[in-house]
Amino acid sequence: MRTFAIAASIAALALGLAGPASAQSPVIIKFSHVVATDTPKGKAAEKFKELAEKYTAGKVKVEVYPNSTLYKDKEELEALQLGSVQMLAPSNSKFGPLGIREFEVFDLPYILPDLKTLRKVTEGPLGTKLLKLLDAKGITGLAYWDNGFKQMSANKKLVTPADYQGVKFRIQSSRVLQAQFKALSALPQVMAFSEVYQALQTGVVDGQENTWSNIYTQKMHEVQKYITETNHGYIGYVVIVNKKFWDDLPADIRDPLTKAMKEATEFGNAQSQKENDDALAEIKKSGKSEIIKLTAEQNEAMRKAMEPVYKDAAGRIGQPLIDEFLKEAKSATN
Ligand code: LMR
Repeated sequence: MRTFAIAASIAALALGLAGPASAQSPVIIKFSHVVATDTPKGKAAEKFKELAEKYTAGKVKVEVYPNSTLYKDKEELEALQLGSVQMLAPSNSKFGPLGIREFEVFDLPYILPDLKTLRKVTEGPLGTKLLKLLDAKGITGLAYWDNGFKQMSANKKLVTPADYQGVKFRIQSSRVLQAQFKALSALPQVMAFSEVYQALQTGVVDGQENTWSNIYTQKMHEVQKYITETNHGYIGYVVIVNKKFWDDLPADIRDPLTKAMKEATEFGNAQSQKENDDALAEIKKSGKSEIIKLTAEQNEAMRKAMEPVYKDAAGRIGQPLIDEFLKEAKSATN
């Protein structure tokens, strides 16, 4: 086996196949993600592919693997570090297992009133600082991509905080999200996105939180009787690449890729809201789930019930980070 591997490496060297890709062979970027193509992230990834291939005049080929077809949540991050895949866009809530807790600040309930505020934070100094944290893990953060605000779904009506008691919820791998459901006396359970539909269908969990576009494209509304429009939290993504792969690219490839990423980001973030609005309209049209709207008082009761999460999160990600986030968010609304 070993002899074979060595022989293969020598043969590859002789053929000039080793090391950074030569001008003749296209550089392959495998971009793996877990959602459907017809979502904010799915469409932005396709746009990046289109622009990257165009701007590099065929020197780069981007292979997009949607819907967890290549890797599931946890595996994709390991695969990126190993170099088996070059690009991902995991949600902010999925960096904890990698040893980077700070992105969980985006998970704090009601921390973002709207997407304008979000943009101010991600494009400001805090956004840049958070991306830098990835370097130590052999990862380069390239951009922030939007999805949108989360809703709560279950097979029972969720109106007051008391309704959440004892309900089993699937969550992403974020401790802040765990604390959020604990604050509601619910039972959070970490699970890969690809497994959610089946877990809801078979009753492994009773409910989940997600954006309209994810709920609709994964058909969760077909196995959830109720969806409560809470907009209590946000799902967005960090587009990441394997750092060594990125650093080793010659400038005449990396520069056009950077331009493609910038434009794909603008494209994706400009239409994420519409994707979610359209998905909501489709869910309503299907008549499969009842959509519950909360009154201002009911919303306030939910916000109050989740307030302890901030204290809990301070112990995990630090109060200074939360304060900095709040400060930048506040400056956006002024
Ligand atoms: C989830 O796991 O619920 C989401 O993060 C999936 C995604 O990438 O939008």
